[in-house]
Amino acid sequence: MTQRTRGGRPMASSTVRGAAIRIRGLHKSFGNEPVLRGIDLEVAEGEVVCVIGPSGSGKSTLLRCVNLLEEPDTGEVVVGGTEITDPDVDIDAARRRIGMVFQHFHLFPHLDVTANLTLPQRRVLGRDRAHAAAVARERLERVGLADKAHAYPGRLSGGQQQRVAIARALAMDPEVMLFDEPTSALDPELVGEVLAVMRELAGDGMTMMVVTHEMGFAREAADRVVFLDGGEIVEQGPAARVVGEPRHERTRAFLRRVLDPVAATTAAEAAEGSGSGRTPGSSPG
Ligand SMILES: Nc1ncnc2c1ncn2[C@@H]1O[C@H](COP(=O)(O)OP(=O)(O)O)[C@@H](O)[C@H]1O
Ligand SMILES: [Mg+2]
Repeated sequence: MTQRTRGGRPMASSTVRGAAIRIRGLHKSFGNEPVLRGIDLEVAEGEVVCVIGPSGSGKSTLLRCVNLLEEPDTGEVVVGGTEITDPDVDIDAARRRIGMVFQHFHLFPHLDVTANLTLPQRRVLGRDRAHAAAVARERLERVGLADKAHAYPGRLSGGQQQRVAIARALAMDPEVMLFDEPTSALDPELVGEVLAVMRELAGDGMTMMVVTHEMGFAREAADRVVFLDGGEIVEQGPAARVVGEPRHERTRAFLRRVLDPVAATTAAEAAEGSGSGRTPGSSPG
């Protein structure tokens, strides 16, 4: 087993055994722009990892490389023991094991909630109607929406639609779940119900990789927080440590902006106005 280090500290070897997701040396560029510059990350079975970082830092690209919605330039991605970056892999079979929840829910507007959940089960997994419907009912109960089984997405709130999207992903019996800013498109009063469902899922032992700006969720539900900036992991560790006592200035600056955007903007403007040199930004290129 190779002993790799990050920032001089050895990575916890406990996360190597039973890794549900293992990413090694992942690079991805769009044109000439490097977006991921060598990501090494392991997510253990049942672990919840929150990925935080500024807009454009590569968070979505990282998640999309994990289920091959983007093809990495170099590097290795292993999910549940299957190397999905192996050119000979059955990518459809590999993808079935990975549930993904997006910022925008991507429900079929012309299908009711049940049909949104049963269609992919029947098409992709070949389940018969009764089996798919039974699974749909159970998953809807799990996200607290059993009473909306026959509603159309357009009649649901954003929070309810996102819970349906989570139920749809769960209906496929994924081994890992990836969430890309699942609450960012929601009105603030609807965020809590979606986070509550995610928290429960985490409590049930689901392996989760969650890109989010919800630091409260990260602190409570995440086993580990990974801060990404400029396509690199700048620091990672237990949620309370990374969010509460960040070690790197780039992390601190990001958290200031996220936790108190008004104060951070005011401070930045004041610094600019007085001409005092603040820590230079860390934008790539
Ligand atoms: N399909 C694409 N083609 C070209 N550039 C892209 C594509 N997807 C993302 N990018 C660029 O890659 C960088 C990282 O994007 P992204 O992974 O979406 O960041 P984040 O999710 O952290 O905001 C951005 O500069 C973005 O413009
Ligand atoms: Mg993104």
